[in-house]
Order: sequence, then C-alpha cells, then structure tokens
Amino acid sequence: MKILVTGREGQVARSLAERNPGHELIFTSRAELDLANPASMERAVANVRPDLILSVGAYTAVDRAESEPDLAMAVNGTAPGLIGAAAARIGARVIHLSTDYVFDGTLDRPWREDDPVAPLGVYGRTKLAGEEALARSGALYATVRTAWVYSPFGNNFVKTMLRLAAERDEVRVVCDQHGCPTSALDIADGLFAVVKTWRNDPDCGAGEVFHLAASGETAWDGLARETFTASERLGGPSARVRSIPASEYPTPARRPANSRLDSTRFTATFGYRAPDWRFSLVSVVERLLGDRRC
Ligand SMILES: NC(=O)c1ccc[n+]([C@@H]2O[C@H](COP(=O)([O-])OP(=O)(O)OC[C@H]3O[C@@H](n4cnc5c(N)ncnc54)[C@H](OP(=O)(O)O)[C@@H]3O)[C@@H](O)[C@H]2O)c1
Repeated sequence: MKILVTGREGQVARSLAERNPGHELIFTSRAELDLANPASMERAVANVRPDLILSVGAYTAVDRAESEPDLAMAVNGTAPGLIGAAAARIGARVIHLSTDYVFDGTLDRPWREDDPVAPLGVYGRTKLAGEEALARSGALYATVRTAWVYSPFGNNFVKTMLRLAAERDEVRVVCDQHGCPTSALDIADGLFAVVKTWRNDPDCGAGEVFHLAASGETAWDGLARETFTASERLGGPSARVRSIPASEYPTPARRPANSRLDSTRFTATFGYRAPDWRFSLVSVVERLLGDRRC
C-alpha cells in the first residue's frame, strides 16, 4: 500500500514513520506539498499517485490562529477539500485528523461523534470547515478527531513542562480544562488500524467521523503532575504544580472546559483502543529525558 503523508515534520507524521508496520510511506515536506497552495497539493498527489493519503499536516498554533485566520483557514479549512478532490480523481482514500476543539466544552460527559459542534476559536472553526470540505470532496474518507497530542517530537505541553521544571521550582497550570492527553505514537497505531481494516473491508467506517484519544482523562495540572512524577522517578527534573483557573491564564484563544473524547466508536469499528494516558506518558517522558541528556 502506497501512502502519502502530509506535514512531514509534525508529531503524528514522525510517529507514523516510527510505527509503520511495512507500508510504502511517502512523507511530504511543506516545500513538496504546501497545504496553503492548491497547485502544490494537486501536483504532489498526481505525482505520487498514492492508494491512501494520511492527512495529518495542519496549522496547529491555536493561539496564533486568532491573528492569522486566513492562513489557518487555507491550511485547515480549504486544503482537506482539495486533498480529497485530488484523491478522488485517482481513486485514493483519505484519513484526515481533526480536533476536540470543534466542541464548545459545555457537556458533562466525553463527547461523541454526533454531539453538536460549536468551536470556540479560529483553530476549531477552521478544523471543522476542513472536516466539512473533505466530506463534500467526493473522496472515500474517514475523519479522526484526536486531542491534547504529545510525543517525543516537535513542540508539546509535556516537553514544555520538562523544560520549565529544569528552570524553576513551581509552575502554574490550568486546572479547569479537562481532556484526554494522547500520545502521537498511539494515534499512529490507531491510524494504521484503520488502514488494516480497510484492506479487508474497504467500506468499514468510510465516510464517517471518529474519535481517537487515550483512555482516561485529566486536566492540564494533572498532566503536569504526572509528567513530573514520571520524570522524577527517572532522575529528571520536577517542579511543584500550582493549580490555577483558566481565568488566571488568559490566552488569545478560548479553550473548551471539557474536551474529553469518547473513542468507543473507533474501537468498535477498527479494533484499536489507545492505552491509558498515564501509561503512554511514562515512555514519552523517558524518551524526552534521554534526548535532553544527549
Ligand atoms: N497537537 C495537538 O494537540 C492536536 C490536538 C488535536 C488535534 N490535532 C490534529 O492532529 C493533527 C496532527 O497534529 P500534530 O500535533 O502532529 O501537529 P504538528 O506537530 O504541529 O505538525 C503539523 C505539521 O503540519 C505542517 N504544516 C503546517 N502548515 C503547513 C503547510 N502550509 N503545508 C504543509 N505542511 C504544513 C507543519 O510544518 P512545519 O513544521 O513546517 O510548521 C508540521 O510539520 C493535526 O491535524 C492537528 O490539527 C492536534
């Protein structure tokens, strides 16, 4: 199976490279496939002629998106439709990643796929537009919403906490936003489970939206504490966590108070369940500490 992956340097793209069970993966850089440039997308897909596109590149700077809405919309909102159309022309399928930030956070249980969407900020609105554009594109697709992504690669909350713990004794972390911290390596395993399912049953889950996030849940301060517990145990830096409400940590973008995702449908359809977030966190912290020592 020949698979084109967008956003080569991203957390999920690099995790796909690491967890690849043996597919021919073609990773495209921004220069090779620019999600803000329609001609570049069309050209790359026509040149590679993949069987499947893993659409994991995106504009992910949630706060910066508030001041760059046009670029965020081009990359997150328009590109998935163009990728889908290019895929449809050559008979390729698309698996597209989206986000928990399509929800407004007002529900008191984990969000299911059919719950009403109402993004609070530009990033969520553009990602929702991308879901809709892909659905209209004519491609056979699955949209997979994930959440709170961290990994040994790129920039993420866990890496930031370890850096801060090396610099100071205490960090202030938001305690009233709840979610499912998800390792990009687990997302990669989940996406390969979709590919495997489609090889045997091409109709299974096609044209549907799924949630794929770690088992369990926490708030940002819980994730920070667990990160430091793991780090300390491994001989790395640790800091005191002072829990604060989001109102004491103003950011350009509003974030949902509850963006926990219910991944039941994904597991039932593709036979993959991401591990508990604490389990995956330990191995990522271990790798991040190893990188720091080199
Ligand atoms: N990170 C999260 O917490 C989170 C949460 C929920 C959902 N998601 C979704 O999960 C997916 C993967 O996220 P991630 O954490 O792996 O993202 P990431 O680490 O920020 O990587 C995104 C990649 O997209 C690339 N990119 C940005 N603009 C581009 C453009 N115009 N053309 C081509 N490539 C471009 C970036 O390139 P550069 O390196 O050159 O900037 C980067 O390599 C995304 O769809 C994201 O919306 C992420």
